[in-house]
Amino acid sequence: MSSPDYPLTLDLAGRRVVVVGGGPVAARRTAGLVEAGAEVDLVAPFICEDLAELLSAGRVTWVEREFLTGDLTLKDRGASGADDPAQSRAEGVFEPAWLVHTATGDPLVDAQVASEAEAARIWCVRADAAQDSSAWTPAVARGAAGTASEGLTVAVSAGGDPRRATAVRDAVLAALDGGTLPVRRVRRVRRGALERDASDQGAPDQDATRPVGHVALVGGGPGADDLITVRGRALLAAADVIVTDRLGPRGLLSTVGADVEVIDVGKTPGNHPVSQTRINELLVQHARLGKRVVRLKGGDPFVLGRGGEEALHCVEHGVPVEVVPGVTSAVSVPAAAGIPVTHRGIAASFVVASAHEGAEHVLAAAADAAPDATLVLLMGITRLAETAAALVAAGRPADTPVALVERGWTPEQRTTTTTLAHAARDAVAAGVRAPAVVVVGQVVSLRERLGDLSGE
Ligand SMILES: C[S@@+](CC[C@H](N)C(=O)[O-])C[C@H]1O[C@@H](n2cnc3c(N)ncnc32)[C@H](O)[C@@H]1O
Repeated sequence: MSSPDYPLTLDLAGRRVVVVGGGPVAARRTAGLVEAGAEVDLVAPFICEDLAELLSAGRVTWVEREFLTGDLTLKDRGASGADDPAQSRAEGVFEPAWLVHTATGDPLVDAQVASEAEAARIWCVRADAAQDSSAWTPAVARGAAGTASEGLTVAVSAGGDPRRATAVRDAVLAALDGGTLPVRRVRRVRRGALERDASDQGAPDQDATRPVGHVALVGGGPGADDLITVRGRALLAAADVIVTDRLGPRGLLSTVGADVEVIDVGKTPGNHPVSQTRINELLVQHARLGKRVVRLKGGDPFVLGRGGEEALHCVEHGVPVEVVPGVTSAVSVPAAAGIPVTHRGIAASFVVASAHEGAEHVLAAAADAAPDATLVLLMGITRLAETAAALVAAGRPADTPVALVERGWTPEQRTTTTTLAHAARDAVAAGVRAPAVVVVGQVVSLRERLGDLSGE
């Protein structure tokens, strides 16, 4: 059995590296070396456009000829070179390279370079034959600024199989940015600052020395773990603190690191254990400690979710805030039950309203809507009897189809279909409970043909 590789990261800044070859492979290698700060000497009779650009930018030097014995240890020998080591030494400066990359396209030349490198104890990467190299480069990617992988270098070696290494590298990077790998930066937080901040909510932060973190209001979608956006998922993976409640993809909370602080502000209808004021304060306090705070919300943060209030509170206190839209239950929960909120020939518009504040709000929302508009009511179960009666009194036909879709996109999803006239009675009989979306309109009848559409 052959010995395993020995992975190593090199600091090449200011160190001489020789690249032999002037084609695209040599250009790719050279670009990486230059980025790492190496002093690159190219040896090749011709160079491609990318290398010519690096040359004209003064990032590399070029020895414009074939490789000659001694090129790895002697610098500045000019175009003539010399076979006689004594003469070579006189022509150049003895400065062995730390590393050589050879990619000439000619196996004989590459083999010669490798053998001279071996004799001079210089690590040699051969583009043509990884198995005959003394060193080889892994597939490398660096996380982009602003992504979950920012600051990370992913390097994958696959025993000399570059395609496999590249595929695995890309998969790791995608998983990092997609948030399925819970990798985040650990920040240092000043002790005692939370207590100080608790009594300091009134004015914008005046202390420039304080670390200011960041708040992301992330729409988690209606409940399924995979209905959050890629951006939301990545922010969740990078979070130091997650402020969550009962709605949204709670299953994702089990994927975050053990040191991530998860604060459950668990709102249930009629029972708000943590007030909105306190939630706003929590966001600002933790951000002021320099933490990355994710406010994970069900559906979309700005659809009947009080996300606007949370964003305003952050802005008013000088805390950077962003919103990540989510898949709102207003559209996605009816869809899960096989009810499109619009359908050609049946309804060309829809109205979303909260039924929480009373029937007059629903009537006001529906008043200017088209007669065929679908009515989607959130928080509509507690006051369903009152709302349905008011809609009939306001002129909606008593036999208008109604769907009550509970816990959409969860394994407990259940749909009760009824009419405006019988909605209250049927809801009690079926034991319908929040969270549920109430759909009023002819589109409900499409469910008979479509059935549940939320997949497995
Ligand atoms: C405070 S509102 C939040 C709405 C959220 N911002 C959104 O865009 O979906 C809560 C209401 O959304 C509805 N809701 C949210 N998720 C739901 C789900 N998975 N199934 C059924 N209804 C849901 C219910 O009407 C619930 O009472």
